Amino acid sequence: MTSEPGTLTLTTAEQTELDALAAEAVDRFGSPAEPVLRRLTVLADVLPRRVREFLAEFRHDDPRGGVVVRGLPVDAPRLPPTPGHWRDRKDGGSAHADFLLALLACRLGDLFAWRTLQEGRLLTDVLPVAGEEDVQTGHGSEAPLEFHCEDAFHELRCDYLGLLCLRNPRRVATTFAAFDPALLSAEDLRTLAEPVFHIRPDSEHRKWMDEETAAEPVPVLFGHPQSPYLRLDPPFMRPRDGDRRAAAALGRLLEQLAARLCDVVLAPGDVLFVDNYRAVHGRRPFRPRYDGTDRWLRRALVTRDLRRSSAVRADPLSHTI
Ligand SMILES: [Fe+2]
Repeated sequence: MTSEPGTLTLTTAEQTELDALAAEAVDRFGSPAEPVLRRLTVLADVLPRRVREFLAEFRHDDPRGGVVVRGLPVDAPRLPPTPGHWRDRKDGGSAHADFLLALLACRLGDLFAWRTLQEGRLLTDVLPVAGEEDVQTGHGSEAPLEFHCEDAFHELRCDYLGLLCLRNPRRVATTFAAFDPALLSAEDLRTLAEPVFHIRPDSEHRKWMDEETAAEPVPVLFGHPQSPYLRLDPPFMRPRDGDRRAAAALGRLLEQLAARLCDVVLAPGDVLFVDNYRAVHGRRPFRPRYDGTDRWLRRALVTRDLRRSSAVRADPLSHTI
């Protein structure tokens, strides 16, 4: 099984259709936000047929674990400069592109946000922030962002992660690897399915959540033993104290993923959707300039079942929307 994400390159006619749809969404709704999601879902029903088919195939448990749609009509020269901080982003500057991302994401499930990330905004920014060059979040730059599953510490993490590129002039690569259980021994598969791994929230969530959020040990692999799903975040996890068998099995899994890691270079208008249960992602290191030309992605989180979070969403003290 290859570890490259599948790719769909849009035709000029499809780009024109998508441009009109996003323009209609901007006119009617302003910018993507929770109250307009239901109506966006209806608009997404008239996305170009090839796009709908491609995303439906991916959603149907595609073992590739990721897909790229290339050539969404993002008007890169007319975008505002890359903000120096996500708080500085002006609403509206990326609205057309945001709707493109949201419309495609709607075909995979329901968009959601964390209260603990970027003030609960529905779509979030991935961009370098001064002073955070070495952090393991979407704000780092000079340190490589190690491969991981998004928000692996939490039961309600996304099923899919969408990353739409607005700007990337120095071709900084996103990294990607699909998990292939056939490359591990039966014994390692069994070990990794035991609930003996602690995964902490990353530093962004941790500003708001205490360590107790991840007190319960969890399995790294879950689901059907022959075709398990994956849950890991190496910089923020460890096996149960003294469990050398679990540590060794985790080490072999990480080696397997590292060997399969490939570079996905996104250009403006390219969107990568990662199946957060089947693949890991990260980023190569780069030197930020903080002059408005830095790499800038918009990120969407998608769940296949919003009902899973209904209890925590109803709790005003909870971490999810
Ligand atoms: Fe991530």
